[in-house]
Amino acid sequence: MKTLADLEKVEALFRPFDLKSLHLRNRIVMAPMTRAFSPQGVPTDDVTAYYRRRAEGEVGLILSEGTVIDRPASSNEPNIPHFYGDQALAGWKKVIDSVHQAGGAMAPQLWHMGVMQPSQSGWLPSQPFEGPSGYVMPGQTGGVAMTDTDIADTIAAFAKAAADAKRLGFDSLEIHGAHGYLVDQFFWEGLNTRTDAFGGKTLAERSRFGVEVVKAMRAAVGDDFAIILRLSQWKQQDFTVQLAKTPQELEAWLNPLADAGVDIFHCSQRRFWEAEFEGSDLNFAGWAKKVSGKATITVGSIGLNSDFMGAFQGQSSQASSIDELLRRMDRGDFDLVAIGRSLLSDPAWVKKVREGRLEELSGFNNQSLATLV
Ligand SMILES: Cc1cc2nc3c(=O)[nH]c(=O)nc-3n(C[C@H](O)[C@H](O)[C@H](O)COP(=O)(O)O)c2cc1C
Repeated sequence: MKTLADLEKVEALFRPFDLKSLHLRNRIVMAPMTRAFSPQGVPTDDVTAYYRRRAEGEVGLILSEGTVIDRPASSNEPNIPHFYGDQALAGWKKVIDSVHQAGGAMAPQLWHMGVMQPSQSGWLPSQPFEGPSGYVMPGQTGGVAMTDTDIADTIAAFAKAAADAKRLGFDSLEIHGAHGYLVDQFFWEGLNTRTDAFGGKTLAERSRFGVEVVKAMRAAVGDDFAIILRLSQWKQQDFTVQLAKTPQELEAWLNPLADAGVDIFHCSQRRFWEAEFEGSDLNFAGWAKKVSGKATITVGSIGLNSDFMGAFQGQSSQASSIDELLRRMDRGDFDLVAIGRSLLSDPAWVKKVREGRLEELSGFNNQSLATLV
């Protein structure tokens, strides 16, 4: 039997959230997680059922796994879903209709990987990987530097995907601008050594590509459709990178993106409790909200005792307390809270939290990566 105190404790997570096209029943977001269960890029009925289970489990906003835009080398793996082409879009239509029927809300995470290592399967796209300067790591070439035409076509492909997200009935969209993929490769001086208008010494200058992508998407979806941008200071190529070293640099990075049309910044950390800058315990999402005035999403090891990179080395993770999250939520640091691995393993995670059944949360079991639980 749950006491009133048990239920009141989690109440902050269960307030509705409304912003433009987004009308959410609670503050919990399913983090985008690549699953690669979509043969030739087409989401199957199993993928539909996987997302529907999260809507039935009361997730407020489901972010899809990264789904790639229409560029010849936007992906390094054939079973990652496309967000272009009649068949793939028909698959996504089934997903969003099913999620809505189950009372959920959803946004696709629109993705271009940029210059990447080939996937473990050894599969390669028909064209070389493309990025700001052709680097896969600082100083190490792994693809080609994008021409002006490549850049214009890529921006147009992002805008087309945005228009399709709205047309299919999604509630919002997320741009993957984090973790060292294409948009982030432009932000990062280690991979962007261009000397034209898409490069530059400052982070604000290197944000031009991201700004143009957001502007084109905003023009494609109109004013009332919520646009989320996912950002990270860290890169999968180098966890120690910190793009913005001060609150002032963060402001100079985020405000042009907000002016271009971002409604919500999704601030990816590996451990949400880590302070972003010295002198304050505010995390990345806390600072992003403070300097931009925009809504933010926090993420990273919420309710788990180890961070997600271990998942790729076969590690599971135990459930841990969410008290620190609730403290920050009550303080108003951020608006929404994204949960990754716990929701990958347990579609009922949100429902259990709402009902105060915190002792039933079982963490992340690595076995659940092998199937769509
Ligand atoms: C299997 C797996 C796949 C992921 N794929 C993506 C992705 O496609 N896009 C993305 O932005 N982040 C991706 N991530 C990162 C998650 O969105 C999230 O930020 C991370 O898992 C931290 O949240 P957690 O600690 O609650 O798991 C992935 C994480 C995992 C475990």
